[in-house]
Amino acid sequence: MLEIVKHPSDILRRKAEPLRKPNLSARRLLDDMAEAMYAAHGVGLAANQVGVARRLVVIDVGDGLLKLINPEIVRRDEEIVEGVEGCLSIPGLQGKVPRHRRVQMRAMLPNGRVEWFDAEGLFAVAIQHEIDHLDGVLFIDRATEVWETTDEPEEDESDEDSQGEASAGGQRDTQAAETR
Ligand code: NI
Repeated sequence: MLEIVKHPSDILRRKAEPLRKPNLSARRLLDDMAEAMYAAHGVGLAANQVGVARRLVVIDVGDGLLKLINPEIVRRDEEIVEGVEGCLSIPGLQGKVPRHRRVQMRAMLPNGRVEWFDAEGLFAVAIQHEIDHLDGVLFIDRATEVWETTDEPEEDESDEDSQGEASAGGQRDTQAAETR
């Protein structure tokens, strides 16, 4: 199983190199990245996060696995929305991050075909988050607010401060976000 690189690390700040075509090693890496992403309950993972400075990304926001080569955003909606994000490379932190509400992305698939995607919601956020990784950018660079998450496995509902409830609500958001 591939190990996910944690911040701070130079590789997370490197600009990843594009591939000319999807070769066997790239396809294998995408498979291994998907395995690591699912094992960590993530919704996305960029190659930088497994120590490889190549423009490869896997995303699954619940609509199936996408393995993307050289993904690029070709159109951005002007409208900006803020959502809660986390990152598998930055455990224990969450932040409020402004993102374009809708984006259009072009990417090569492992079979060599180029495909276009119109994305909004979590898919749009994941695309922007992962392509940022390929450019050495982390969500904490863009966040308007960052806070520590409590990594307790169980939520103590009887906790008298409202913290418990807040983190329980936040936890679900992160569930999606955490895995990017
Ligand atoms: Ni991330």
